[in-house]
Amino acid sequence: MGVNILALLATLPLCINAAPNFLPRQSSQDTATVNLTTGARRGAPQNLAAGVLYGIPDDPTQIPDHFYSDMGFNYARIGGAQMEAGGWVDGLETYYARFNNTRDNYFQARKFGAKVIILPHDIWGTDHANQSSNWPGDNGDWTDYDNYLNQLIGDLKANDMLDGLVYDTWNEPDGSFWDRSQAQYLDLWSRTYNRIRSDSDLNGVLISGPSYASQPNTGNDWWTNWVQRIVADNTIPDQYTWHDEPGDVANDVPRWADIRSQYNLPDREININEYATFNQQISAGAAWWISRLERYNLRGLRGNWLSGWQLRDFLASLLTKTDTNDYTGTGYQGNGEFNVYKYYHQNMTGERATTTSTGDGVMDVFTTVGSDKVRVLTGVLNQQGTWYITISGLSAVGLSSSGTLSIQTWGFDDAGHFGAVAGPSDRGVYGHQYDGDSVTFPVFQTSQDENTAWAFEFDI
Ligand SMILES: *[C@@H]1O[C@H](CO)[C@@H](O)[C@H](O)[C@H]1NC(C)=O
Ligand SMILES: *[C@@H]1O[C@H](CO)[C@@H](O)[C@H](O)[C@H]1NC(C)=O
Ligand SMILES: *[C@@H]1O[C@H](CO)[C@@H](O)[C@H](O)[C@H]1NC(C)=O
Ligand SMILES: *[C@@H]1O[C@H](CO)[C@@H](O)[C@H](O)[C@H]1NC(C)=O
Repeated sequence: MGVNILALLATLPLCINAAPNFLPRQSSQDTATVNLTTGARRGAPQNLAAGVLYGIPDDPTQIPDHFYSDMGFNYARIGGAQMEAGGWVDGLETYYARFNNTRDNYFQARKFGAKVIILPHDIWGTDHANQSSNWPGDNGDWTDYDNYLNQLIGDLKANDMLDGLVYDTWNEPDGSFWDRSQAQYLDLWSRTYNRIRSDSDLNGVLISGPSYASQPNTGNDWWTNWVQRIVADNTIPDQYTWHDEPGDVANDVPRWADIRSQYNLPDREININEYATFNQQISAGAAWWISRLERYNLRGLRGNWLSGWQLRDFLASLLTKTDTNDYTGTGYQGNGEFNVYKYYHQNMTGERATTTSTGDGVMDVFTTVGSDKVRVLTGVLNQQGTWYITISGLSAVGLSSSGTLSIQTWGFDDAGHFGAVAGPSDRGVYGHQYDGDSVTFPVFQTSQDENTAWAFEFDI
């Protein structure tokens, strides 16, 4: 796309004041809101959405460190998935191949202060197991699984891997990583929880779960049976986890609250430790997910849709390299989404404002009030059309309650999962007349900017 076309498109998003009659109707369905009032501030941003599933190469020095620090990388989830060496199910040698991979990834993640979720189902080798493998607890015999836990816990201690560690009991037992009954899984849960909590060396290690593929719902017996079991056995994890691929935390959060109140479960940190489908992994999707996770104060880790060794590279589709089929390759560059996370981390400082998404849920906004500017990151999820943003409480950031507001627009262009994008594009500055202490402007998600995320900034 040429510069002139970009410049022309850039004039579109902000023409409303000139030609309001040509625009579709504005309603709560298509309008997101930002409230800048001091009483509606939500604390300093902590980059809650900047976690990554796998994505760290087997040689952990391969991706230059600045890519991790630029994006605010703060949560890893690892276990040697899809390695040729099959893990515990294939014997101690292949167990160590996966354990060592996990160890090397762990120390790379810790360099950036990231918390590290380990995936025991990966080190065990679920991706090399099948129906006829010996699964934990088969025929009521837990000897092999107990040996596995002892081996793994012993190695975590011996390698000094307990700091910042989260033990993710078993991944997606309701999905494709468990080939036995729900009852056998629930036994595994209690057994694992009790093994970890009976070891005082592991007092600082968090236990997470159930990391289901499905979202909490009172109609889902994987959820209701698990909740009843952990209450009955007093094996409640430190962190509640599940996956949204697809999914929407705006639905999950109230449903989870319903289940918790029904079964008297305590409120604990939630981690959506896999979020976003592959087609949502575009710049606009990143901004949408960041906005939603931040609204509900949820931790989140990007899902990862690459395969084989590529799964363990590219920071879960945030990077590309000179030859993406070269296992040991060099020449890493960020893609469109990478620039969204970088802006989220480096530029969106200060305090978080209260926001609401559009009523139709298609567009969402995340906003910070910095010492210099207000910054509104915006993402439309996989749709084209026109949506609006209303920002109220302008006088709370020192602006007059009516006048003209100059808004700078940045476009976070997207060139595909492996498409390098140097940085956001400058889409110009436009003056909006406003009164009543609030300003409204449209966001045009055109076919030319199908996957683009936006940042709107103004000086305060
Ligand atoms: C903004 O937040 C304040 C403080 O919570 C609230 O009183 C006010 O009604 C909100 N404004 C809008 C437009 O929702
Ligand atoms: C794992 O790492 C240890 C310690 O560095 C090493 O002795 C061992 O050979 C490694 N095993 C495998 C299978 O890579
Ligand atoms: C099933 O998995 C076991 C390892 O648990 C392996 O030895 C066996 O070859 C696998 N069978 C098939 C049909 O893949
Ligand atoms: C974000 O902040 C960095 C570091 O201060 C700065 O170089 C960059 O220009 C800013 N980006 C935008 C889009 O404002």
